[in-house]
Amino acid sequence: MIQKFKYGHPFETEAVTADLPLSEGTPSVGEISLTEGFRFRCRLEKNDIAYGLGEANRGINKRGYCYISDAADDPEHTEDKRSLYAAHNFLVIAGSKNFGLFVDYPAKLTFDIGYTRSDMLTVSCGEADLYLYVIDGESPYDIVRQFRKIIGRSYIPPKFAFGFGQSRWGYKTKDDFRKAADGYRENHIPLDMVYMDIDYMQDYKDFTLNEENFPDFPDFVKEMKAKDIRLVPIIDAGVKIEKGYPVYEEGVANGYFCKREDGSDFVAAVWPGYTHFPDVINPEARRWFGDYYRTLTEQGIEGFWNDMNEPSIFYTPEGLEKLTELMRKFVDGKTDEVPPFYIKYVIMNLANNPKDYASFYHQAGGQKIRHDKIHNLFGYNMTRAAGEAFERIAPEKRFLMFSRSSYIGMHRYGGIWTGDNKSWWSHILLNLKMMPSLNMCGFLYTGADLGGFGADTTRDLLLRWLALGVFTPLMRNHAALGTREQECYQFEGPKDFRHIIEVRYRLLPYLYSEYMKAALSDDLYFKPLAFEYPGDDMAAQVEDQLMLGSEIMIAPVYTQNARGRYVYLPEEMMFVKFMPDGTVYRKELPAGHHYVEIELNEVPLFIRSGKCIPVVDAAESVERIDMGTLQLLGYKDAEYLLYEDDGVHKDYENPANRKLLTNS
Ligand code: NOJ
Repeated sequence: MIQKFKYGHPFETEAVTADLPLSEGTPSVGEISLTEGFRFRCRLEKNDIAYGLGEANRGINKRGYCYISDAADDPEHTEDKRSLYAAHNFLVIAGSKNFGLFVDYPAKLTFDIGYTRSDMLTVSCGEADLYLYVIDGESPYDIVRQFRKIIGRSYIPPKFAFGFGQSRWGYKTKDDFRKAADGYRENHIPLDMVYMDIDYMQDYKDFTLNEENFPDFPDFVKEMKAKDIRLVPIIDAGVKIEKGYPVYEEGVANGYFCKREDGSDFVAAVWPGYTHFPDVINPEARRWFGDYYRTLTEQGIEGFWNDMNEPSIFYTPEGLEKLTELMRKFVDGKTDEVPPFYIKYVIMNLANNPKDYASFYHQAGGQKIRHDKIHNLFGYNMTRAAGEAFERIAPEKRFLMFSRSSYIGMHRYGGIWTGDNKSWWSHILLNLKMMPSLNMCGFLYTGADLGGFGADTTRDLLLRWLALGVFTPLMRNHAALGTREQECYQFEGPKDFRHIIEVRYRLLPYLYSEYMKAALSDDLYFKPLAFEYPGDDMAAQVEDQLMLGSEIMIAPVYTQNARGRYVYLPEEMMFVKFMPDGTVYRKELPAGHHYVEIELNEVPLFIRSGKCIPVVDAAESVERIDMGTLQLLGYKDAEYLLYEDDGVHKDYENPANRKLLTNS
């Protein structure tokens, strides 16, 4: 049962698609206070678990920390961080009582989950203008499924997007892209996508191509496609201020950019220097910006990634002016007035400053709304601009699309990647923990920068991370400018990388089927163990293993120099390892704790008792997978429901897409 409560005058975020009646009274699961903004409080019992919050720091069980929904471009994902790029305000409390909360509030919102007081959940925000959805259910899984039903179907990418992708910030010329593509093809390491980061553009202008490097872009797209490789360009939120640049000129002429209080266009510096932000909250401006994606789809592009859409601000002219003034005083020796630490503080707060977010406005439904009141909706609506445009450009076709910033609702238009992680072992685990939480909030097409974005990776870290990435719907190696080159062929023993990535392609019919079945029935692709084994107290505490679909459990290695790991089996399972010589090791293990050996070049998984999964021969691209080689792996006589379609169109309900297979 879902109750919808309304407080004050909420902004219509359109996160929820179901038309639910408003409930009278107050929720029975906690107490509400409206004296200072909004506050929901409820007692937590000792072993209650908190699930959800999507892209958030720390564990699958969110209890014991404080999380703030306040989309932030912060590339330091250390354990103390409370805000990442997204705002996913859905939380489930499971244990002595089971209930879910979705707080549909697009500004800063705090979830104190046993942080201030270990036995108290407090959800609070500055203004009591919101919808609160309270979901009552028999289990956390049941609550999540009810929630997923009211927010609409998750985004479905084309099938090629389930292949492996290579990215690096710094690829500039055709030769840089060719080198990456050829490096993979020459080493026979499978690859389906090469990502184009900001340097493909002319002076970082959205929807342009560097004139010197890409005079004949459609031919280049074709050249790569002939190798079964899609180019996937980035689109940034800020539109460069430059006379004669059509996106800028049209945006100004039509009033499609976010404005300052005095009606002038708001200015923020990002990669291109000074930019304006398209007012994607305004449906007209959103349509206009979305239609620009056509400039690239017309040249053969079938996928994009949307970046810097918190929106990220390096500085504003106002912020810079204040700093300059302080610096002048400082240089003039007025250190009493301007002590050095204060200068440092001002410099550190130049970027993404709350004052800047409170100084510009959107147009929504004929009303002017200050950005900070709906801050968390920008990335959602930028991606929605693209998603809605794709419906106009080619309604029958699926496009690849994922975003950095997001809010629940955006899951209908695209996936997300989890932003600027680091080449740290702890970030493999963070990647794993985020996946089921993201699924609970509707985001199924997700993944992290494999190998780590910031800092220098190592061979073993990349191999171990790829062995997790084999299972994440978005499987992409991406690295920051200036870091060690981390394309798989750059390391000694490329055959180990080939093998790990080949396993992705061998498992693709399974991964794709499970993704499609989850998306089409508003279900989860990744689940915490407790969702499949309710009542198993040990399973409820596992934070480093996941259930994937209905058939398997994954347990990747995430510590350096480990030759294996401990794993908990809630039931008897078949331990499977894809061995580097192409063979498959299998052993039935009884329920309980085990230590399993896993070499750097092996991919482990566990098949649930009585189940089986489809496996095919390896291929170098999704296109080249030969379904004729399909075999079932797992328990004898088990059945598997295979979902297969052309991976391009949207003929999802066709009964011919589903085939029941038996492992005889
Ligand atoms: C920030 C993004 O998170 C990162 O992935 C990208 O490489 C840089 N922007 C440069 O575009």
